Amino acid sequence: MRVLVTGATGLVGVETVERLRSEPGVTVVGVSRRPPESSPDLVSWDMAAEDPPAAVRGPWDAIVHAAADTRWSATAQEAMRANVDTVAALRPLVSPETHVIHVSTAYAVGTGGDVSDDSPDGYRNNYEWSKARAERLARELFPRLTIVRPPLVIGSRATGRAARFAGMYTILRGVTASTVPVLVGRPDAFFDVLPVDDLAALLVALVTGAEPEAGPGAEPLVIAGGARAPRAEDALELMIETLNAWREEQGHEPFDAPRLVEPESWNRFFLPFARNELAPRQLRILELLSHFNPYMAITTPLDATHPVDDVLPAIETSVRYWADSNARVASMPARPWTAKA
Ligand SMILES: NC(=O)c1ccc[n+]([C@@H]2O[C@H](COP(=O)([O-])OP(=O)(O)OC[C@H]3O[C@@H](n4cnc5c(N)ncnc54)[C@H](OP(=O)(O)O)[C@@H]3O)[C@@H](O)[C@H]2O)c1
Repeated sequence: MRVLVTGATGLVGVETVERLRSEPGVTVVGVSRRPPESSPDLVSWDMAAEDPPAAVRGPWDAIVHAAADTRWSATAQEAMRANVDTVAALRPLVSPETHVIHVSTAYAVGTGGDVSDDSPDGYRNNYEWSKARAERLARELFPRLTIVRPPLVIGSRATGRAARFAGMYTILRGVTASTVPVLVGRPDAFFDVLPVDDLAALLVALVTGAEPEAGPGAEPLVIAGGARAPRAEDALELMIETLNAWREEQGHEPFDAPRLVEPESWNRFFLPFARNELAPRQLRILELLSHFNPYMAITTPLDATHPVDDVLPAIETSVRYWADSNARVASMPARPWTAKA
C-alpha cells in the first residue's frame, strides 16, 4: 500500500507515521509545511499555498489528513487556510480508489450539534468553524472518506511522548510560570482527553482495513471517553499532583492547584477585578487560557462511537513526559500569585 500522511511533524502525524512504518507492506510518505532538517525523509509542502510537489503524486491507496492549525485563537483567515484549503489541496491526489481518512475534531459540531451551520456564531471559535467547513468539503470531494473526530489529544499511554505541547500543556505551563490564579470551568465538566497512541491505532487500522471504513454518507467516528471521561476537577488534581511529585523528586517545592471558578462568578466578579489589577503578562496568560473556558464547562458527554477508557494514567505519563522535556519551566520556583500592586 502507498499511504500519504499530512501533518507528519504534528502531535498526531508523528505517532501515525511511526506506526504505519512498522506495518508490513505499507510505504509511507509524510509531508509537512516546513519539516525540520532532522527529518530529511519528510516532504516539504505548504498545502495552502503551493501545488503538490512531485514526491506526493498519486495514486495513493490511503491518505491520512492530519495537517491543521489547531489554535483556538486563530483568525478566520488563518483557520481557513490551514484547515480548509489543505483539504482542497488533496483533490488532485485522490483517485476513486483512494481512502481518505480525515482527522477532524469532536467539537466540529460547534454549539449547534452538527457541522451544517456556516455561520461562525454556531461555533466556540474559528478553529471549530473551519473544521466543520473542512468536513463538509471533504464529503463533497472524496468518494471514499472516513471522518475521525477525537477530543483533546495528549501524549501516548505508553511513554507520554507528545511531538507538540498544546491544549492541556498550556495549563501546565501557566501553572509552573505562576501566572494562573484560577481556572474557569465547572468541576463536573467532562475533561475528555485522548492518548495520541489510541488515535494513531485507529487511524492505522482504518488504513490497513482492520477497522472497516465508513461508507458513503456514514456518520463520523468519534473516538473519546464520552460518559467515561474524567471530570475536570479530578483531572486537574491529578495533573498538579503529578507535577508536584516530579518537582519533589528534583528537590523543588510544590505548587498549589489553581482553583476552579464557575464561569458565572468569573465573568461577574473576578474578570472586572482582573482587568484593573493584573499586570499585562498575567492578562496575556488569562487571555490565552480563556479559550479553554468553554471546554471546561461541557457537562454533556461526547457521543463516542469508539469509547476510550482509563485515561487518567495517560494524563499522569503525559505530565511527566512534559516535565522531563521542559525541565527548566517545570522547575520554576513557585511564586505566590499577586496583583501588580
Ligand atoms: N491536538 C489536539 O488536541 C487535537 C484535538 C482534536 C483534533 N485534532 C486534529 O488532529 C489533527 C492533527 O492535529 P495535531 O495536534 O497533530 O496538530 P499539530 O501538532 O499542530 O501539527 C500540525 C501539522 O500540520 C502541518 N501543517 C499546518 N499547516 C500546514 C500547511 N499549510 N501545509 C502543510 N502542512 C501544514 C504542520 O506542519 P509544520 O510543522 O511543518 O508547520 C504540522 O505537521 C488535526 O486535524 C486537528 O484538527 C487535534
